[in-house]
Amino acid sequence: MVPGWIILLVSVLLCSFESTLADPALRSPVILVPGLAGSVLEGKLNRTEAPAWYCAKKTDNFRVLWLSLSEASRPTCLLDELALFYNETTGRYRNQTGVEIRALDFGGLGGVDALDPGLPRLTPLYSGLTKAFKDEGYKERKDLFGAPYDFRLAGDGLEQVGYYKNLTALIEHAVDSNDGRQATIVAHSLGCLVSLYFITQQPSEWLQKHVNSFVAISAPWAGSITALKGSISGDNFDIPVIPQNLLRPVQSTAPSGPWLFPTPDQWMDDVLVTTDEKNYTANDALQLLKDLNLTQQAAVYPKVHDLTYPLLQVDIRVHCLYGTGQDTDEGYVYAVPHFNASAPPPPKEVRTGLGDGTVNLRSLEACTALGETATLKSFHGASHMGILSDDRLIDEVIQIVKGSKSGAWTDLKSRVRKPWGFLQQLWGVDVYRGVSKAASWVL
Ligand SMILES: *[C@@H]1O[C@H](CO)[C@@H](O)[C@H](O)[C@H]1NC(C)=O
Ligand SMILES: *[C@@H]1O[C@H](CO)[C@@H](O)[C@H](O)[C@H]1NC(C)=O
Ligand SMILES: *[C@@H]1O[C@H](CO)[C@@H](O)[C@H](O)[C@H]1NC(C)=O
Ligand SMILES: *[C@@H]1O[C@H](CO)[C@@H](O)[C@H](O)[C@H]1NC(C)=O
Ligand SMILES: *[C@@H]1O[C@H](CO)[C@@H](O)[C@H](O)[C@H]1NC(C)=O
Ligand SMILES: *[C@@H]1O[C@H](CO)[C@@H](O)[C@H](O)[C@H]1NC(C)=O
Ligand SMILES: *[C@@H]1O[C@H](CO)[C@@H](O)[C@H](O)[C@H]1NC(C)=O
Repeated sequence: MVPGWIILLVSVLLCSFESTLADPALRSPVILVPGLAGSVLEGKLNRTEAPAWYCAKKTDNFRVLWLSLSEASRPTCLLDELALFYNETTGRYRNQTGVEIRALDFGGLGGVDALDPGLPRLTPLYSGLTKAFKDEGYKERKDLFGAPYDFRLAGDGLEQVGYYKNLTALIEHAVDSNDGRQATIVAHSLGCLVSLYFITQQPSEWLQKHVNSFVAISAPWAGSITALKGSISGDNFDIPVIPQNLLRPVQSTAPSGPWLFPTPDQWMDDVLVTTDEKNYTANDALQLLKDLNLTQQAAVYPKVHDLTYPLLQVDIRVHCLYGTGQDTDEGYVYAVPHFNASAPPPPKEVRTGLGDGTVNLRSLEACTALGETATLKSFHGASHMGILSDDRLIDEVIQIVKGSKSGAWTDLKSRVRKPWGFLQQLWGVDVYRGVSKAASWVL
């Protein structure tokens, strides 16, 4: 029997949490930072050459390139327009000659709500969350902002094109125009590294004044094995209508790829990639790029691999939210004697382990390295992308931004949750394999 006074105490406590929850004065303005391939990119052309006769050379205005299903139906043109070049001498990046590329609607939600703005229902990104925010009274560009970016770039390139200057100004604006209430940064996937790099560059007084907390969803803190596949043979994100190697020209040249490579501290001597004659561990990433003659990624690798590695403790509260119970790539076997300059066929064998289907569990859990203020919460059965439309996740994020989740309360909760998370992972893998396979056919 539970004594009556305990029940009373618990209900008083719960009520006090309820009342903070309802207080709009605690509501924090929100900045949404999307993940890899999760920002809408638009481009303007003024080219003298194109790779095929049917590719446009000039456009009067910016138009959506990524993702527009009509552009994607001419991949030869699209991939050539999205090519990015690195000058090793100057350390600077540039767009394809005669092509200007920028993220759509910086500050607004147009570049983060859906992948193809023309087909929002088929390609949702943050739209589930933004709808929930709006139901709570949030308004676009008033206290709800999007910070899309050119996801081909890593932190150094984003710095170069002025993204971080923009982000600083956006956060300052969000705070100033909301009675000084600190902002909450809500990021997904690569966006978590993009935000972490930003946070580690900011002075702590600035952070204290402007940032309430950092909500990191599906964060690849220690990289992801799937990023290796992107460079080696291409990754179609398991979308069946996209050929496996279609995106490889971008994936094998973009600096964001090696930024996401698995980090040596988590994978140590594990063999991640195998050919008949050679094995590669996380420490062999540079050699792997050289063996594949991916000269541009090999050139940027030394620069990008330590932008957020090793992980540093941060001064602000971090909430790591992630899915579990999905088979996640842990290693690849390629049926070739050794790599050379031509892309090999997709891996013959994929070894899988725990994770959210894209990011490995040990990388999601490396959140603990961000310090004592970091709390972890897993959502069983939620996938890397699917989690963004998961009601449990949406509820949790809303609670955080409404100020009902102070440090002590969340700490307690995540400690209680952890043993459960582990058990759920054990039995969940098989149940959810079927569901996720079925879901990936929707697009
Ligand atoms: C297009 O590029 C050419 C040089 O290749 C330049 O002379 C011209 O001014 C550009 N046009 C526009 C509209 O930027
Ligand atoms: C790199 O930049 C330098 C200095 O601007 C220039 O001289 C060189 O041609 C560039 N290299 C390439 C490959 O574009
Ligand atoms: C690509 O083009 C955009 C728009 O002109 C420009 O702002 C950006 O700096 C360019 N990116 C790089 C890497 O040069
Ligand atoms: C910076 O913000 C301006 C104004 O919102 C926008 O036009 C520009 O594309 C942004 N640039 C980057 C790199 O985010
Ligand atoms: C690669 O590693 C596996 C163990 O993971 C080992 O059995 C195999 O002999 C190694 N192959 C080479 C070529 O080193
Ligand atoms: C390797 O790539 C460079 C350019 O990145 C190219 O010049 C060279 O021909 C390539 N080597 C092979 C063997 O394809
Ligand atoms: C490169 O490797 C492929 C197998 O992936 C092989 O078919 C091809 O002959 C090799 N090319 C060269 C130039 O060695």
